[in-house]
Amino acid sequence: MWAPGQEKDSVDISDRRYDEKVCDVLIIGAGGAGLRAAIESYDRGAKTLVVCKSLLGKAHTVMAEGGIAAALGNVDPKDSWEVHFSDTIVEGQHLSNWRMAEIFAKEAIERVYELEKYGAVFDRTPEGKISQRAFGAHTYRRLCNIGDRTGLELIRTLQDQLIARGVPFIDEVMTTCIFRDSKTGRVAGAFGIDIKTGRLLLFRAKAVILATGGSGRVYQVTSNSYESTGDGIGMAYRAGAELMDMEMIQFHPTGMIYPPGVRGMLVTEAVRGEGGTLTNSEGERFMSKYDPKRMELSARDVVARSIYTEIMAGRGSKGGGVYLDISHRGADYIKKKLPSMYDQFLAFADIDITKDKMEVAPTVHYQMGGVRVDPETAETSIKMLYAAGEVASGLHGANRLGGNSLSDILVFGKRAGAAAAESAAAIDLPSVDGGEVEKEISRVLSPFSSAGGANPFHVKEEIASNMWKHVGIVRKAEDLEAGLAELEKLREEAKGLKAVGARAYNQSWTDSLQVLDMLTVCEAIIQSALERKESRGAHTRSDFPAKDPKWLVNIITVQENGKMVRRIVPVSNPPPELQSLIKEDD
Ligand code: FUM
Repeated sequence: MWAPGQEKDSVDISDRRYDEKVCDVLIIGAGGAGLRAAIESYDRGAKTLVVCKSLLGKAHTVMAEGGIAAALGNVDPKDSWEVHFSDTIVEGQHLSNWRMAEIFAKEAIERVYELEKYGAVFDRTPEGKISQRAFGAHTYRRLCNIGDRTGLELIRTLQDQLIARGVPFIDEVMTTCIFRDSKTGRVAGAFGIDIKTGRLLLFRAKAVILATGGSGRVYQVTSNSYESTGDGIGMAYRAGAELMDMEMIQFHPTGMIYPPGVRGMLVTEAVRGEGGTLTNSEGERFMSKYDPKRMELSARDVVARSIYTEIMAGRGSKGGGVYLDISHRGADYIKKKLPSMYDQFLAFADIDITKDKMEVAPTVHYQMGGVRVDPETAETSIKMLYAAGEVASGLHGANRLGGNSLSDILVFGKRAGAAAAESAAAIDLPSVDGGEVEKEISRVLSPFSSAGGANPFHVKEEIASNMWKHVGIVRKAEDLEAGLAELEKLREEAKGLKAVGARAYNQSWTDSLQVLDMLTVCEAIIQSALERKESRGAHTRSDFPAKDPKWLVNIITVQENGKMVRRIVPVSNPPPELQSLIKEDD
């Protein structure tokens, strides 16, 4: 243990001492799910602690720009939770957990009004109600928005609530493993490093909530922040939790393609929601061939595949994407409704979107799969380990509707916080096995003494380029096998990862530690993609192009005897009263 007052800059690279933090509920991640869980857990009286890998406020949640989906019916009065439920199930291609979808569609409405009470400044209709815009494959205009900065406003609002309550948090902490009580199997805490100082941290907790977001950074072209490296999924898997639907990776149809430094950066779906059109090099509005009814507002998987098809057929734009045009809406409207897009293109691409077309191409944006959770409580298959938000699976099935993630994180963040706090009140603090702690310290410090010379930054890049090349929008067995073989080579290389320099703010160290979980996430994605021999939603196999009712299943991934294994479980059918709400789109 550290002596009180120990100098912060005195951490020797081999120093094995650690600080100990004790709480009832430890929340890992401070995006929307983590913050909402923290508010709930704290308000229910649990001693709550939030840790996050980046700075507070810099969450990937801000990348859901165009709006939060909830059936308020402010603009289209016919909208209802029932229609939102149906849209979620249908566009998820029937892989969603029906109970999660039901809870979600009902509670999203309360969560949006609650956010407003918390202080979120929504755009308004002329009558003063929260305004709602169109988004792909939502039957009605359902996306409550704050221009194109909805995720940012959500984080600002929740963060204010956290600070006002005085909920303790520590930012720039990277958690490295989850501990379980050896007698009960329940969660007992977590281990981590304080990135700022290089000090080691042991967290003892009755409950842990994973709100770590996704893993978009395992791909080369992504809208995701640098932090989205799949640590939460990796830690849960190493602790023995079940993962589900890992093959389902969402490519957002429109990312920036130029200049190279910002390739993949999100171009919000709100551009199409506000009337933006997509054309190819021949000036053709090509969505008329793929979804003549919904055109640019078709489901994300359909629009992304259509853009990909146009590019592969040689009808791409000069920069290798397609054209997206909103200029017909006029400068005032664009600057009011899409201020970030206007600024982003001007600053990075020197394009004035009020006059000129944007060039866009698909970018990895979201993972529908993740840690398997209970629909009521968000508890994982490990007792007292919870997961909410993108790290969790179940709600979005094979394809997430735009805007559903922001309501997802509020609905299930709150539920996770409530369940964790209530269950924690009923138990004593579990013990953490000292031997396990020592083992984790050795693992965490090993990159400093590694005899190998592998550069973790390069290995991360190779992982991402392998996934982009072999596990893209359209997949086939041959490519997936090649991706797996490459992954095995990278796994070997990763055994010699070397961290150089001191422990404070050492990216070679944090990168080294992230690689293990990135490899796990990639293996789970590829293995599940090989397993699913059909095309459904975001998972397209050129060697199995049809959707096959035989594959109306969820693919579970779990560690057994040190090996990654899969189980296939049929999707459970909704009860008749919910089944009758589901309206297929023709
Ligand atoms: O396009 C967007 O604004 C993204 C929204 C989302 O992913 O939910």
